[in-house]
Amino acid sequence: MEPGGATLTRTHGVRFVTVTMPRVQGDTRWDAHGGLTNNPNEHARTVGQPIAALITDGGEQGALSPLAPPCAALDSRPMPAIWALSDLHLSTSGAKPMDVFGDHWGNHAGRMAESWDRLVADDDIVLTPGDFSWASKPAEAAGDFAWLGARPGHKIMVKGNHDYWWTGTHKRMAELLPPRTYALKKTAVSIHGVGFFGVRGGDFAALTRYGDTRTAEDIEAWLAREEHELKLSIAALDQADAAAGRARGQRICLFHYPPIPPGRTVSRFTPIIEAAGASFCIYGHLHGQELGPAKVEGTWNGVTYRCTSCDQVDFTPTLICRI
Ligand SMILES: [Fe+2]
Ligand SMILES: [Fe+2]
Repeated sequence: MEPGGATLTRTHGVRFVTVTMPRVQGDTRWDAHGGLTNNPNEHARTVGQPIAALITDGGEQGALSPLAPPCAALDSRPMPAIWALSDLHLSTSGAKPMDVFGDHWGNHAGRMAESWDRLVADDDIVLTPGDFSWASKPAEAAGDFAWLGARPGHKIMVKGNHDYWWTGTHKRMAELLPPRTYALKKTAVSIHGVGFFGVRGGDFAALTRYGDTRTAEDIEAWLAREEHELKLSIAALDQADAAAGRARGQRICLFHYPPIPPGRTVSRFTPIIEAAGASFCIYGHLHGQELGPAKVEGTWNGVTYRCTSCDQVDFTPTLICRI
């Protein structure tokens, strides 16, 4: 008879016992088709010996007690959280101060840094879907990215309508982004088993009161392109899951523009977001105190929609969920 064994391992406060089946008279299997009296007894006896030894040794060392200190320490550790704070509109160069839009924007970068550093743990994830910086060129955004890099957590962004610094090449974008920062465009990322996909989106109608002269055809062409890029982002996430051999886990969608027209609960985008398996869709773009029906928030068909522009959430990262 070859020796079997039993080992005890612990991870994240959960104990696992692994039993190695020894070879008994050349046999390593329990599905006996003969000798039904002796065969199971022999197997049980040989597997039982290492388990008994494990219980004896583990009991003496305290490893099997309900609240052994290492397990208690691991159990008390909070799970990573997902936060959102959009439309940072940073201008660390001072070229574009935001308090021209009201006193409540005063020192908004300093106030966001204080709340971000106080709330966000280094292993958390912060979604910041668009209008990150007023910089018009990548080089001008260096100070704003230094600000972002000094904040804890993984960061995920999509392009906003004011992100003129956004560079089209993966190489230049990689040079610009701080570590653990992901700028999604026709791409996706998975962190802590949660998949993130997204797109910029667009207006559902021309903003004629602001002099917007786009035709219905112009709007349709824009939205069709955004819909296509949304599908490419989802496909990238599906491919990444397949390549990693992962089952589809929790998913979160990022939009810059509201993904649903004012006062509505559905759009051309909502069936796509639902079919992709998102539980949240986080967006920004909207500012001010009189947004009315434009600020579409709620849960429909399993997806919760939230506007997280910084002035809508008191310049403080808002908790989406814990993983
Ligand atoms: Fe915007
Ligand atoms: Fe904005």
